[in-house]
Amino acid sequence: MSEALAVDPGPRDDLRGPEPFLTLAGIEVEFPGVKALRGVDLFVERGSVHGLMGENGAGKSTLLKVLSGVNLPKAGTITVAGKQLTFRGASDALEAGIAIIYQELHLVPGLSAAENLMLGHLPRRGGLVDRKALRIRAEAVLRDLGEDIDPSTPVGRLSIGQRQMVEIGKALLRNAQIIAFDEPTSSLSSREVENLKRIVRRLRDEGRAIVYVTHRMAEVFELCDAVTVFRDGACVARHPDIADVTPDQLVTEMVGRAIEDVYGYRPRKTGDVLVEVENIAGPGIREPISFSLRKGEILGFFGLVGAGRTELMRLICGTERATGGKITLQGKVLKMGSPRRAISAGIAMCPEDRKREGIFPIASVDDNINISVRRRYAKFGIVNFAREKLNAAKAIRDLDIRTRNGSTPIRNLSGGNQQKAILGRWLSEDIELFVLDEPTRGIDVGARAQIYEILYGLAEKGVGVIVVSSDLSEVSSISDRVIVMADGCVTANFSRDEITPERLLSQALPR
Ligand SMILES: Nc1ncnc2c1ncn2[C@@H]1O[C@H](COP(=O)(O)OP(=O)(O)OP(=O)(O)O)[C@@H](O)[C@H]1O
Ligand SMILES: [Mg+2]
Repeated sequence: MSEALAVDPGPRDDLRGPEPFLTLAGIEVEFPGVKALRGVDLFVERGSVHGLMGENGAGKSTLLKVLSGVNLPKAGTITVAGKQLTFRGASDALEAGIAIIYQELHLVPGLSAAENLMLGHLPRRGGLVDRKALRIRAEAVLRDLGEDIDPSTPVGRLSIGQRQMVEIGKALLRNAQIIAFDEPTSSLSSREVENLKRIVRRLRDEGRAIVYVTHRMAEVFELCDAVTVFRDGACVARHPDIADVTPDQLVTEMVGRAIEDVYGYRPRKTGDVLVEVENIAGPGIREPISFSLRKGEILGFFGLVGAGRTELMRLICGTERATGGKITLQGKVLKMGSPRRAISAGIAMCPEDRKREGIFPIASVDDNINISVRRRYAKFGIVNFAREKLNAAKAIRDLDIRTRNGSTPIRNLSGGNQQKAILGRWLSEDIELFVLDEPTRGIDVGARAQIYEILYGLAEKGVGVIVVSSDLSEVSSISDRVIVMADGCVTANFSRDEITPERLLSQALPR
């Protein structure tokens, strides 16, 4: 282990001083027209994991950016170990021993894992980068994190979980004493989630102060020692001891009202067969796959990350070319391999990776919503701005997208609100089949219930809905039928009365 990693763990109680190790007090952040934080406080002890919860847009990521010196607050103070700090930029925060593992990772894809790890302080000999020292140190850090990563691999080729480990490794190399995670498990496989939890606990036991943002209730109770809840840029509740609070209470605090059970199956009528998929084959699929879907049916696809579900959906939506098989929609054979033809046949897809496939970051919220209907509203190639404005306004209202207005660039929205805008893109369309890949990732409980309502509404109108999800409670409660995949193959097809979380999970595990 490199020297920088050695931290005297010490008994945890000794770490607690009369003052919290990290104090943020009265923090105010304003963006043009948005008060993102209205004087919030956060107190974090050493040797503890402090959960930060709140609805989409509540200000969680903004606070982490204050902590990392990226957002400079209008008012408020940051105190670490009794010393008040003033940040003029990100490097001041680094120097103060603060590291943030962001919602969207910030590594340089073209550089190797080792180079990313040590960016800014590459070991040098005689003015040149000392390749050997670089490799040895990088290997030690990665091994220490329990990841079998070759340090010379370009970061662009690593899985999201592995990239996150590189980010954590960077923090460790700098011996950061305050490490904040922004929804770290939202795109990890279940094995990666377990490894991450193990590491977070270790960092805590070493006496560091950990801030942990998540929408996953179970995680809060598994990992966190304390929790603070934000709503609309303000702290609404502070629980210094997690044992004093219940999940229901946290939900009520987050949303400002009690939420009826989000997960309850609602029976519905299904119609004739809408889609028939026969022996479809292609990249990521090990055995040809067949299934059918009725009008008004919600079909869940459950599996672990890497099971081939996304690959299958890409074949259906034409974003990937099939090597065999046939898809029939409303009795007509679909010409495959073209997203445009799929769209004009009435298939809509809400992709998993919003950053890569979903949003146009610098375009406005309105434009991001209207992108798919533009052709339909246009006459002789002339954009109908009035129609588009109305269309976007309706989506913003129906999905409760929190934005200042429709012309705000979408990248200014919180992560969950960006996801809602992408969903909104398809709601105005005349669609027959709606394919959603992990639709509620990063979405808060309240919005989750709204999204399910919208899906139920579409199903009632006769739209066929496919929901790919790694969330067991979600897929087992909203679906009329669930197909389970593992390792590029279908392993089970459960009808409503056969669905139980245990059965789904047992069929999803690789054999
Ligand atoms: N660069 C920016 N410019 C303008 N507004 C911004 C910017 N960054 C954030 N905001 C706004 O600040 C508010 C808080 O956003 P933030 O990203 O902190 O929410 P969050 O709690 O992390 O939500 P989520 O759970 O969806 O990730 C939102 O209204 C958001 O639109
Ligand atoms: Mg966020």
